[in-house]
Amino acid sequence: MTKKVIEKIKTLESKRAPWNVAPESMSFILRLAEIIGCKNILEIGTYNGYSALKLSLVTNKLITLERDEIFIKEAKENLKIAKNIKIIKGDALKTLKDKVIRNDSYDLIFIDAMKPEYQGYFLIVKKMLSNKGIIIFDNTISHRKKIGETFFKEIKDSNFEINEFSYGDGLIVLSKNKMKFSAKDLKHRYNG
Ligand SMILES: C[S@@+](CC[C@H](N)C(=O)[O-])C[C@H]1O[C@@H](n2cnc3c(N)ncnc32)[C@H](O)[C@@H]1O
Repeated sequence: MTKKVIEKIKTLESKRAPWNVAPESMSFILRLAEIIGCKNILEIGTYNGYSALKLSLVTNKLITLERDEIFIKEAKENLKIAKNIKIIKGDALKTLKDKVIRNDSYDLIFIDAMKPEYQGYFLIVKKMLSNKGIIIFDNTISHRKKIGETFFKEIKDSNFEINEFSYGDGLIVLSKNKMKFSAKDLKHRYNG
């Protein structure tokens, strides 16, 4: 199973689609997932399923949200080999209000969908994070303007610990407690 997933990841990486998260960001995210002992992931923004497939290697369960039918079809094809991924169709801001999603708690919440909606996603998902959990936002450097200053103010005013990294297009990692990772931990490269 894992062998097939890794082969599929290699294929997707060889013809990298434009919206896929940068490989170095993905490696860093996987390392963080391993460090926190991640069991349950929520992703907002499936696209062709690349990041979901990589994340599926370091978790028991993953739910990914996507609204575009064409991308869902493509992702279903790419993700059929992974048995721990569930794609949920619909607008994330609505889907997140669904009881089944809302009542679960997640160790890693990866946000990589509509940039001006980051603040809206944050306000909902912050209540779904487990105590050891982290919320990761992609494109925080490349799309800072689109994300909007109110988002940055919102997280600054929250009780979350904020760490920003320059990997790929920029990542913000929020955690309830101070992250206790050494520079050596963070340098690790995940080559799955
Ligand atoms: C940057 S792509 C995600 C890339 C993916 N995480 C990866 O690295 O392979 C963003 C995706 O979010 C989806 N999206 C944008 N806004 C959304 C929303 N409100 N609800 C659900 N999906 C959304 C888009 O259709 C697009 O497929």
